[in-house]
Amino acid sequence: MLNARVAIDREFRISPVRRRTFGSFVEHLGRCVYTGIHDPGHPTADADGFRGDVIELTRELGVSTVRYPGGNFVSGYRWEDGIGPVADRPRRLDLAWHSTEPNTVGVDEFMRWARKAGVEPMMAVNLGTRGIQESVDLLEYCNVESGSHFSDLRRRYGSAEPYDVRMWCLGNEMDGPWQVGHKTAREYGRLAAETGRAMRLVDPNLELVACGSSSSGMPTFGAWEATVLEEAYEQVDLISAHAYYWEDDGDTASFLASSVDMDHFIESVVAAADYVRAAGKHKKRINISFDEWNVWYQTRTESEPPKDSWPVAPPLLEDRYTLTDAVVVGSLLISLLRHSDRVHAASLAQLVNVIAPIMTEPGGKSWRQTTFFPFADASRHAKGDVLRVSLSSPTYDTARFGDVPVVDAVATRDDESGETALFAVNRSVHEPVLLEIDLRDAAEARLLASTTLTADDPDLRNTAANPEAVTPRDNPKVSVSGRTVQVELPPLSWNVVRVAG
Ligand code: AHR
Repeated sequence: MLNARVAIDREFRISPVRRRTFGSFVEHLGRCVYTGIHDPGHPTADADGFRGDVIELTRELGVSTVRYPGGNFVSGYRWEDGIGPVADRPRRLDLAWHSTEPNTVGVDEFMRWARKAGVEPMMAVNLGTRGIQESVDLLEYCNVESGSHFSDLRRRYGSAEPYDVRMWCLGNEMDGPWQVGHKTAREYGRLAAETGRAMRLVDPNLELVACGSSSSGMPTFGAWEATVLEEAYEQVDLISAHAYYWEDDGDTASFLASSVDMDHFIESVVAAADYVRAAGKHKKRINISFDEWNVWYQTRTESEPPKDSWPVAPPLLEDRYTLTDAVVVGSLLISLLRHSDRVHAASLAQLVNVIAPIMTEPGGKSWRQTTFFPFADASRHAKGDVLRVSLSSPTYDTARFGDVPVVDAVATRDDESGETALFAVNRSVHEPVLLEIDLRDAAEARLLASTTLTADDPDLRNTAANPEAVTPRDNPKVSVSGRTVQVELPPLSWNVVRVAG
């Protein structure tokens, strides 16, 4: 048994818990939209063709915002294809995923779905093959009440009320050579600035997100952010970050330490943004929208789009997540939460079927992947303020990151209810950890709940046939004495300990 200690004090506030940390992402990719959220033949489908079971799971997951419609898809997308009578909508080649886009679902359908799912829509505009005019047109369609071509068109197509979308991504991954319409940082920064300026003429109160780097491994990482912000600092509010993690060559130790890269990513982007702020004598701060993050087995064949055909909604990127993957997702959530002072939004990519916490069979079952649970736990129990914790943990050696703490943790404190929640991972594959939690400012702690997500087999997955193979359970190995809680974290586990006091 290993030993670790964490001290929590409500005075050590980082920032309020930001609901937008618990965002997700719906892209026209594979089966995310078609047979994911939209499946008219499904027994739970409503009059709009949306799956009721998926809406319920989205609510249970606790998703706040949903980014739409891409992703790489958006960089070749003509949003006007997706409005008006469905029978008249064109079928288009989607170059990003080598698929055919039937345009059965477009912006109006997505907004209807978002309302039903209780999520805030976050739109992305195409700055790959298109530009300022088309972005402004889409904004007019979404946010202007009436009296102009596109706002009246929206009304004619059935939505009298504007959608009032606040967050807008100015393009997607424009630093990536794979992106249709890929640009240099200077080219993109100029376009983002001018697009943002024009969009704000329509609606001054938008929150605009410039594209940052597609991963910390990009050759332009750091310099890209600085150059883009040199051009667009005053026109945007946030800069994006994207990161996917996978186990390379069986190196589980490094994979479990992926959040070390996420910490480094966030801190580097903050440094680049603050450098531009100082050099440009700007007043406001630019914060981060970590609007794509997850585990993604990019090395597996199901990530490859078809090359010799153009199918509609082929199964793509349908990673089946293990317990190990869930522990990594949990540790990434800890990293996002502890950087809440500068990470103001995040999107787990994606929501359904495509590298997703929710899986569906076309016309059939739906189930929760292992990664569903850390996200749902954090979304449900992180309330009030995020607290910096003082953590002493044994370390283990990794090939990619050197010595890494076995335990990682973050806490939140809700002054209204008096509840403190600790979120902790044990990255040791074999050893349990006895974690002592010292609630420094409490006279007496009272345990509310202690749960753990673990399994004997690190590779265990949930499937349609066995949807609850990996599911959180109460952790009975917990005791309280005065202001101290002792909890045994099983090997390879995601844990939530909730106390009052
Ligand atoms: O989420 C899958 C893809 O990953 C997105 O389309 C793209 O933005 C990123 O490279």
